[in-house]
Amino acid sequence: MSAPSGSGERPAVIAVVKESAEGELRVATVPDVVQKLVSSGHQVRIEHSAGTGAFYPDELYTAAGATIAASRADLLKGADIVLCVQPPTVGDVEQVSEGSLLVGFMNPSGNIDAIKAMRDRKITSFALELVPRITRAQGMDALSSQATAGGYSAVILGAGNCPKFLPMLTTAAGTIRPATVLILGAGVAGLMAIATAKRLGALVEAYDVRRAAGEQVRSLGAKFLELEINAEGQGGYARELTPEEKALEQEMVSAAVARADIVITTAAIPGRKAPVLITKETVLRMRPGAVIVDLAAETGGNCELTQAGKTIQEHGVTIIGPRNLPARVPFHSSQMYAKNLQAFLALLVNKEGSLVKDYTDEILVASLLTHAGEVCFAPARNIIGGVKP
Ligand SMILES: NC(=O)c1ccc[n+]([C@@H]2O[C@H](COP(=O)([O-])OP(=O)(O)OC[C@H]3O[C@@H](n4cnc5c(N)ncnc54)[C@H](O)[C@@H]3O)[C@@H](O)[C@H]2O)c1
Repeated sequence: MSAPSGSGERPAVIAVVKESAEGELRVATVPDVVQKLVSSGHQVRIEHSAGTGAFYPDELYTAAGATIAASRADLLKGADIVLCVQPPTVGDVEQVSEGSLLVGFMNPSGNIDAIKAMRDRKITSFALELVPRITRAQGMDALSSQATAGGYSAVILGAGNCPKFLPMLTTAAGTIRPATVLILGAGVAGLMAIATAKRLGALVEAYDVRRAAGEQVRSLGAKFLELEINAEGQGGYARELTPEEKALEQEMVSAAVARADIVITTAAIPGRKAPVLITKETVLRMRPGAVIVDLAAETGGNCELTQAGKTIQEHGVTIIGPRNLPARVPFHSSQMYAKNLQAFLALLVNKEGSLVKDYTDEILVASLLTHAGEVCFAPARNIIGGVKP
């Protein structure tokens, strides 16, 4: 694949948009990273107040060597690379100059109208969701950095809604038993949730269909709930369970959920609706005051009763279906995301600091979504072409 020729042999102009999605407080770069980009010879432009929601004021970006653009039009004029957090809308794409590079989360299997718009405007887009999870790409793994922020925030949210202390307390007013926190799904977010709940002093139990997760769970000091199932699928991700396996899982999960004070659910299967692990009947078995924080709310929910973006009460149980948990810790989630982008950008520029001409690096090849008027990611291309997934 050949890169666009527009930028020539000169340092890149990098533009950072102000996120416009509801509730989005993150920003794609932070002053520390700007300083490094500028010292490598790039020009960095920040859309006015892009970092305000994450507590990075414009003055810090200016001090780091960026210029502040008063409007989106000023920001994007002549920009070589545009950085974003949230997938662009069709309206956003229409503002980006033809032939520019756009890097960020793209929702590559769902954001189809914007992908068509990027194809038609000959925008070269890279989707961070498609960065392969290989050792060399760990520093660019924005799915992991943001899942870490999500797992942490979920426990804080659960603790804030729980009527109990999490740690054991021995006081003159009596002894308090520690709360039990159950984590369903021990991927990146789940492991961070386990570590956070442990630090708060709770008794922590966890379950995952991948048996390999057991060792990681135990190494964090939590109890791993085992079933006679190992559903490790392709690339280290989970596969969908058979109906018999689902029934076994439901039985064990239901008993563990019933004894928990806080349940954090993070179970996901790539490209599929989230598996239901907590049925309505299981919720009825829970103690009044118990809390469920469902990280899978936006992909259908791990609890049958979850409503995305809402907190509901059912039989005395609080069920929280948060959207965009990483945006609850925008300062650090932006910092981690900015570092991921900095590592990714290093692949797009050569030693002289100008944009690479060919996308031959396996990370660029895997994450290339649209380029030169084509959709490069086959699942999105198939959806556009009417092929059933
Ligand atoms: N650079 C790397 O090497 C790297 C980086 C990040 C993650 N990973 C690996 O990728 C894998 C997926 O991580 P992720 O956090 O993106 O996962 P994910 O967000 O796709 O899923 C979250 C967890 O849900 C689990 N799950 C799915 N169905 C379930 C069910 N029915 N019941 C219970 N749990 C269920 C999955 O096994 C997974 O651990 C893990 O093996 C992780 O260690 C590797």
